[in-house]
Amino acid sequence: MTTLGTPLSPHATKVMLLGSGELGKEVLIALQRLGVETIAVDRYDNAPGQQVAHHARTITMSDPAQLKALIEAERPHLVVPEIEAIATPMLEELEAAGTVRVIPTARAARLTMDREGIRVLAAETLGLPTSPYKFCNSLQELQAAIDSGIGYPCIVKPVMSSSGKGQSKIDGPADVQKAWDYAMAGGRVSHGRVIVEGFIDFDYEITQLTVRSVGADGQIATSFCDPIGHVQVSGDYVESWQPHPMHPAALEKSRQIAKAVTDNLGGQGLFGVELFVKGQDVWFSEVSPRPHDTGLVTLCTQHQSEFELHARAILGLPVDTGLRNPGASAVIYGGVEAQGIVFDGVEEALRVPDTDLRLFGKPESFAKRRMGVALARAADVDTARRNAKLAASKVKPRKA
Ligand SMILES: Nc1ncnc2c1ncn2[C@@H]1O[C@H](COP(=O)(O)OP(=O)(O)OP(=O)(O)O)[C@@H](O)[C@H]1O
Ligand SMILES: [Mg+2]
Repeated sequence: MTTLGTPLSPHATKVMLLGSGELGKEVLIALQRLGVETIAVDRYDNAPGQQVAHHARTITMSDPAQLKALIEAERPHLVVPEIEAIATPMLEELEAAGTVRVIPTARAARLTMDREGIRVLAAETLGLPTSPYKFCNSLQELQAAIDSGIGYPCIVKPVMSSSGKGQSKIDGPADVQKAWDYAMAGGRVSHGRVIVEGFIDFDYEITQLTVRSVGADGQIATSFCDPIGHVQVSGDYVESWQPHPMHPAALEKSRQIAKAVTDNLGGQGLFGVELFVKGQDVWFSEVSPRPHDTGLVTLCTQHQSEFELHARAILGLPVDTGLRNPGASAVIYGGVEAQGIVFDGVEEALRVPDTDLRLFGKPESFAKRRMGVALARAADVDTARRNAKLAASKVKPRKA
């Protein structure tokens, strides 16, 4: 049974978000609506989620000492990681000591923070279909891995990176050195390890949002959202839509894979399982044990967005993953490098029928930083995609 408290009182239900970007901001809003006391943590001041939380804290989350000190000082009931770059062994320690509960589990946060933990679990422990892969510590090892089976084309990624950083495709021997150098420059922690994956020539890729929540019988139940289709450019999502039409056999396989991975990771909450599909074949790519960026579309398509689903699931409340109507999202990039930018064209954007907008409120813009997203609902996905892209194109970020 879940009992919720009153925020800012001795019996408050306290939740700490580790990472307070645009996804965390929506989770925080969902928690606020349930009267949860929220603590938004990020590495810089005035992060999007910090602007809507009761408390804002700025620390280096990859520093175990800082993380421990903050959790012990604030004593939240739940710690909810929103990003990967966190001192996850410290979270495991604090969870084991009973200091705090980590969402979905501290082990899940550790296994998914780098590509190696989750790939080895999925492919070797669970035996799920994935691209062929090898981990390499040097240019020589990379070349040897390609020559001894991975072949061309293939994709090289730093083991610790996200949003496509340091990731590139290798089409032939002439690209290997360049891909290695690029991975070394783009990794989150430059410890010089990469994964090389055989290129999967998929028809399309989806995100299978999967929720582990407490059912009426008190047991954990798994539920699935409709599949989300998306387009990635340079490893970063630019457009997503829901539902993505799928062959029933491919959908069935996708959900079996999603169930296997999330059963193993355990705990409560929403997961974003990334899958590649070709005909009736499905490959597991990776999983986020938290709301997924492509799932921003659910803000306009589902009765409960992925953020509301996460908030409910972690609090032990019932969830409804039902689709309300088809819809699409289109990313708005900063385009400029500046602090405190302004946005022209918001009015024109919202004149596009059945659209909505999120401007994240990030204090600083970069050319390729995601600053907002346009959302569109429609009777069909094609119309929604067209309108979402149109609305996004009307928003013009510029220096103030
Ligand atoms: N083995 C592969 N074969 C074909 N395409 C791939 C492969 N691996 C990655 N990609 C493409 O690159 C995209 C990004 O890859 P991946 O999800 O591994 O990187 P990421 O940096 O974790 O991205 P994000 O954080 O945005 O999810 C995938 O969504 C897919 O479009
Ligand atoms: Mg990905």
